[in-house]
Amino acid sequence: MIIAIDGPAGAGKSTVARLLADKLGFAYLDTGALYRASALKAKRMNLSFEESPEIRTMMSEIDIRFEGDRVYLDGEDVSEEIRTPQVSHLASVISAIPSVRELLLPLQRRVGHAQNTVADGRDMGTVVFPDAENKIFLDASLKERARRRFLELLQKGEKNSSEKEVAQEIKIRDERDSSRVAAPLRRAVDAVYINTDKLNIDKVLEKMLEYIVL
Ligand code: DC
Repeated sequence: MIIAIDGPAGAGKSTVARLLADKLGFAYLDTGALYRASALKAKRMNLSFEESPEIRTMMSEIDIRFEGDRVYLDGEDVSEEIRTPQVSHLASVISAIPSVRELLLPLQRRVGHAQNTVADGRDMGTVVFPDAENKIFLDASLKERARRRFLELLQKGEKNSSEKEVAQEIKIRDERDSSRVAAPLRRAVDAVYINTDKLNIDKVLEKMLEYIVL
C-alpha cells in the first residue's frame, strides 16, 4: 500500500510523513532527498544544470541509499549537506530536467512497491504512484511555511537569512516546481486537500488518519 503525500516546500510533508510511517509501521520514502543528493553530486562535478549527456550519465551512475534517517550519496553520508538552502535551490533546478526525473522514477517505484510506504514529494499522486490507495495534498500559506522554515534554520544555527528572505526563496522554488513541464507540483484530482496553517503536527496526523483507508 502506498500513501502519497504531495505539496509545496515547508508545508510539513516530511515531518508528518515520517510520523505517519512510524505509526503505521510503513517505510518512509523521502523523494526530495533523491533530488537533493542528485543536485549535490552535479554541483560537486561542476556540471551545468540543464539537460545534457553529462547529466544523464551522472544520473545513470548515481548511487543514493537510505539507512534509517540518513542519506548516502555514493557511499558518503550527506544527510546534513543536502539540507542547506543552496542545495534546496539546486534540487529544485535539477528536478526540472526530464532525464533526472526519468532516471529517478524506477528507483522510487522499486522502493514503493517492495513494501507498504508513505512517500512524500511533488509528483507522488500524479506521476510516480498514480494508483496509490491514499493521496494527500498538504498545503499552507507562504507566510506560515516561511515562518516554519525560518525557525527550522535558526534551530540548526543558520542565522544568515531573514524570514523575508526565506519566504522569497520558498516562493521562487514553488513557482519553479509548479511551472516546469516535467511532472510539475500539482494536486492529484483524487487527493485529499489539507491546509496546515492552523494545525499543529498532532492535528495534521489526526486529520490524515481520518481520511486514510487501510
Ligand atoms: O521536498 P524537498 O523540499 O526536499 O524537495 C527538494 C526539491 O526537489 C523541490 O524543490 C523539488 C524537487 N522535488 C521534485 O521535483 N519532486 C519530488 N517528488 C520531490 C522533490
